[in-house]
Amino acid sequence: MGDENSLEELSYQSGYGNSFSSEALAGALPHGQNSPLLCPYSLYAEQISGTSFTSPRKLNLRSWLYRIKPSVTHEPFKPRVPSHGKLLSEFDRSNSSATPTQLRWKPVEIPDSPTDFVDGLFTVCGAGSSFLRHGFAVHMYTANKSMDNCAFCNADGDFLIVPQKGRLWITTECGKLQVSPGEVAILPQGFRFAVDLPDGPSRGYVAEIFGAHFQLPDLGPIGANGLAAPRDFLAPTAWFEDGRRPGYTIVQKFGGELFTAKQDFSPFNVVAWHGNHVPYKYDLSKFCPYNTVLVDHSDPSINTVLTAPTDKPGVALLDFVVFPPRWLVAEHTFRPPYYHRNCMSEFMGLIYGGYEVHF
Ligand SMILES: [Fe+2]
Repeated sequence: MGDENSLEELSYQSGYGNSFSSEALAGALPHGQNSPLLCPYSLYAEQISGTSFTSPRKLNLRSWLYRIKPSVTHEPFKPRVPSHGKLLSEFDRSNSSATPTQLRWKPVEIPDSPTDFVDGLFTVCGAGSSFLRHGFAVHMYTANKSMDNCAFCNADGDFLIVPQKGRLWITTECGKLQVSPGEVAILPQGFRFAVDLPDGPSRGYVAEIFGAHFQLPDLGPIGANGLAAPRDFLAPTAWFEDGRRPGYTIVQKFGGELFTAKQDFSPFNVVAWHGNHVPYKYDLSKFCPYNTVLVDHSDPSINTVLTAPTDKPGVALLDFVVFPPRWLVAEHTFRPPYYHRNCMSEFMGLIYGGYEVHF
């Protein structure tokens, strides 16, 4: 994937939910229409959608990709051999050991044997079903080598990746993202991407949502500013590779199972693109926390970075929340968070610092 410094100089497009556009070759984007009879540079026009065609405009997600070869030109998908065996996308009593007890885990060891991002993924918990398009899964990954001559595609849902150790160099169809511990990356359903590990042994968390997409939370009385600012979200700029890549493998996750298809070219052959359905990243240190200034603790929802809504007002499928370094000031208030029993489930992961050592 080029020299070690190539991703340090990446340029990004800033904003959340924007209608972005990017071209790696000047003039590669058609003007005035999306699918001309002949595209510039004889590229193939391809739409990728994240919502139904008829979704309301404020929710509608789709992008147009202009690529050297159509992505459909691959051999049929077959179940991967060996199967993965550590991923779930349906959660019920038959396949889980659910317990009402609170659990905590030590950091997971990173394996010595060669393991890439896909093989290093394993499901920790979840609810619902990818087939029913409602639910979520929480995975972790431990890996030590870059993906080689293959790309991953998740047909089940969107990934929100939280590296805890080691940077991720993620090549997507829209361009490249460098994601360091302290940053998060969102890879929407259906996008092909490959993960390189420039720092070797790596570990992190993944939140996956079925049938929904993340959005910025409403701010209510906080006002027009605060929490995560739209301009701090970064989408890639177009980047492509050309030429034959014999034996290239697309690994697709569908219903928690992996399927593979061979093709003789890189899927990262998108010369230009435009639209609002894109992979993106966010630096959690940019988060602007709000909190109490007199008495009592705020509810943790005050720290929501991104939320995936359900049809029920105010009920999230999954909220991604950060507890960043911040001042906690209050009078005659019990210092730690109040005792609580939530109707919704919490999954906490440490990125850096000490857990519960702030007294
Ligand atoms: Fe809690």
